Amino acid sequence: MSLEEVRNYINSVRRDFASKPLSKSDLNENPMEQFATWMEEAVNAQILDPYAMCLSTVNVDGHPSSRIVYWRDVSEDGFVLYTNYNSRKGVEIAANPNVALNFHWTELDRQIRIEGKIKKVPTEMSDTYWASRPRESRIGAWASAQSHIIPNSSQLQESITELQEKYKDEEIPRPKHWGGYVVIPERLEFWQGRPSRLHDRFVYIKNGDDWTLAQLSP
Ligand SMILES: Cc1cc2nc3c(=O)[nH]c(=O)nc-3n(C[C@H](O)[C@H](O)[C@H](O)COP(=O)(O)O)c2cc1C
Repeated sequence: MSLEEVRNYINSVRRDFASKPLSKSDLNENPMEQFATWMEEAVNAQILDPYAMCLSTVNVDGHPSSRIVYWRDVSEDGFVLYTNYNSRKGVEIAANPNVALNFHWTELDRQIRIEGKIKKVPTEMSDTYWASRPRESRIGAWASAQSHIIPNSSQLQESITELQEKYKDEEIPRPKHWGGYVVIPERLEFWQGRPSRLHDRFVYIKNGDDWTLAQLSP
């Protein structure tokens, strides 16, 4: 398709949402429990990668950037992900801990929007997860200076071959620049798509140790 054909296509399609309504009485007082319920429903609906989430960070100049990462664990009632601390996201997080997450499950007409602060997980937690990763992924974490410009793929491949040789008979240690972050939520919105764009939206906002729950206009 040319860009013009793409434009015509996206102008011509319109999908209405037909899912069941969501009301306040359906929702758990605790947003993480509510999240667990929706995740279970996403898993049961056999959505591919329901734990893939969009992570948005903001750089030192206030410019945002987004990418998909996998949600891997729960810690301190927050969302844990693993990555390279020297990557673009890592540099942005070091400058500004305010981040947003978004889970979108098309098949269920649902999204969950999360905002909060991010911090590194304890090194022991990163070590445990590192140990569970396949050997090839561990080699990859050493070989890739994630987000940095490279001349070509062969240089990366050479570096992988060298590392495979280096660690041939050894355990591969976790690089200091690779590990986990946890996003501690301060605001979570559960969004259910509904007919005629009259969607159901409920937001939990942290208030001290408690959460307030409110409905938002679609
Ligand atoms: C489904 C999916 C899952 C991903 N999971 C991760 C992940 O868990 N950690 C990670 O560092 N990158 C992951 N990526 C790659 C990121 O989207 C991104 O390319 C990478 O982290 C570099 O981002 P940055 O340059 O903004 O730091 C994933 C990509 C996709 C499409």
